[in-house]
Amino acid sequence: MEFIITETYDQMSRAAADAIAAKVRSCPDCTLGLATGSTPIGTYACLVADHKDGTLDFSDVTTFNLDEYAGLAPEHRQSYRYFMNDNLFDHVNIDKARTHVPNGANADADAVCNGYEQAIWDNGGIDLQLLGLGHNGHIGFNEPADAFPVGTHAVQLTESTINANSRLFDSIDDVPRSAYTMGIGTIMGAREVLVVVSGADKADIVAKAFCGPVVPQVPASVLQLHPACTVICDAEAASKLPR
Ligand code: GLP
Repeated sequence: MEFIITETYDQMSRAAADAIAAKVRSCPDCTLGLATGSTPIGTYACLVADHKDGTLDFSDVTTFNLDEYAGLAPEHRQSYRYFMNDNLFDHVNIDKARTHVPNGANADADAVCNGYEQAIWDNGGIDLQLLGLGHNGHIGFNEPADAFPVGTHAVQLTESTINANSRLFDSIDDVPRSAYTMGIGTIMGAREVLVVVSGADKADIVAKAFCGPVVPQVPASVLQLHPACTVICDAEAASKLPR
């Protein structure tokens, strides 16, 4: 596991965007795994800026997003499909037909999850997976559990995640209680993983996930076992890492 510690959020975002841009430039038809949440917004802004500068071409790139709320249609402003269109896809030359987000509007969880997992592997797997980190150590929507889930599956969200994500909804009652997410096995199957983490409120979980024991109660801890995982933290998020 490699750590890149930057002073600021903007530098963290630029470093993550540089890693993604380098992948796209060296492998124009690569498959990116993408994440939502507040943390990667700056990374996506840097990628959009690179595209507008004429230095980054998404025309042959395929993407698979980590997760989606169950019950939210793609047009819903809090859906992760809407987030991705708004923050990245609508501003670069990606072919939307090659962008994949689990279909939250389909209540048939088995059909959505099995179909999504199959599509990832039929496509040859993920070259570079971008991840954020939840306060309880979740990645995607893989919540603390007694075992690491393998493939894409439906999950009940924890109170901690519902509370954290309620800031984006009009009321906490509007936050969906369940979601579809890639599994830990899906994420660990990516050839490279890039984790972005920002802010003092993530310092405890950064230290626990990346320097503590590998346990399913802290899902992100499994990334310590990934052969090519880079964590990019700003100074606040890194402040409790052992020196
Ligand atoms: C959500 C997403 C995760 C994301 C996490 C952290 O629950 N499903 O993929 O990593 O939030 O979000 P933030 O970056 O806003 O702290």
